[in-house]
Amino acid sequence: MAIGFGIIGAGQMGAVHAAAIDAVSEAQLIAVADVDEKRADILAGEHGLQHVFTDYNHLLALRNVDAVVIATPDQLHCEPAVASSNAGKHVLLEKPIATNLRDADRIIASSKAANVKLAIGHCSRYDTTHTAIKEQIETGSLGDVMSIYSKRHAFITEARRLGGRVSVEQYLAVHDLDLMLWYLNDEVVRVTAEIVAGPVQNELGVHDICWTMFKTRRGAVGIVESGWVLPAKLGMGGDVRFEVVGSKGIAYGQVLPNTVAICNDDGWQFPDVQHWSKLHGNLVGWYAEQVRCFVQSIERDEPPVATGDDGRRSLEVIIAARYSYQKNETVSLPFTESHG
Ligand SMILES: NC(=O)c1ccc[n+]([C@@H]2O[C@H](COP(=O)([O-])OP(=O)(O)OC[C@H]3O[C@@H](n4cnc5c(N)ncnc54)[C@H](O)[C@@H]3O)[C@@H](O)[C@H]2O)c1
Repeated sequence: MAIGFGIIGAGQMGAVHAAAIDAVSEAQLIAVADVDEKRADILAGEHGLQHVFTDYNHLLALRNVDAVVIATPDQLHCEPAVASSNAGKHVLLEKPIATNLRDADRIIASSKAANVKLAIGHCSRYDTTHTAIKEQIETGSLGDVMSIYSKRHAFITEARRLGGRVSVEQYLAVHDLDLMLWYLNDEVVRVTAEIVAGPVQNELGVHDICWTMFKTRRGAVGIVESGWVLPAKLGMGGDVRFEVVGSKGIAYGQVLPNTVAICNDDGWQFPDVQHWSKLHGNLVGWYAEQVRCFVQSIERDEPPVATGDDGRRSLEVIIAARYSYQKNETVSLPFTESHG
């Protein structure tokens, strides 16, 4: 029988997850909850749902909801995640796991106590570009990984949509840090970060660019370059690429720009063939695979692809990076909340 799903948070990502659940035959969307009644109604209408709430506790009371996807803003992850675990629901929680380590620990502890699955929405782990690199690392074809670099630049329109409620490293770099730690299977011991203020800072009060540099226990180094100042007219989905240098070889991964280009009287356009792309009307790719893998982890009683502990690891580096650029110093890990 299909796993019954509820969605908490019917914004941009709630809608993507609803389409992803629809695309997976072993999953069935049952209910949606959003404090914004209009948003909840729209998403419920699009998916023909009878159960629509402004209070997620009513959703959690439904017996045929086995699992929830939580897609509330970053700083509002903890309460619905803990309540969902306490209600015995498996949780697929959007990244970052939380905005501080205390909340991350509460979320992880509640899922363990309730013996439910907790998966974090580190969606890049379901992208074939990134999994191909992971496979090469695991087979040893690159040798020992010594250096790892990623670049993820989004449009200024995305910064505007979020209106200054998150930093660029919390929103974007956390994807790359998760990938890097997944690849390296190692611990970060030192973090240094630098930020640049520009138009985004002037308009929204959050910096435009952040470079996060780290060193691991086994001696590898990594740099995550993240930004959201690209002009929307670039229209290629953004600029996302990845490089891994090992003792025996190098891997290059290019996720964006999109590779289909169309030009008409409106200028150049680049349809999404990577991110939230559709095949014959159905969502395909990362997000559908994420739901499929999550369902599999429930059915087989296996750990999810990205666990709560994985989510905590990338969050810890993000928090250390913030401390580093605020205090202008290199930060040693493990990071304790008493730092800041
Ligand atoms: N994996 C990805 O590719 C990706 C991309 C964008 C955003 N995200 C993450 O997804 C999450 C949601 O981001 P978004 O862009 O969809 O935000 P959004 O603002 O579009 O939507 C968030 C929704 O949550 C609702 N909400 C707030 N508090 C609530 C509560 N207590 N109960 C129910 N609903 C509540 C809001 O009303 C809003 O509709 C964030 O954590 C973000 O970082 C992930």
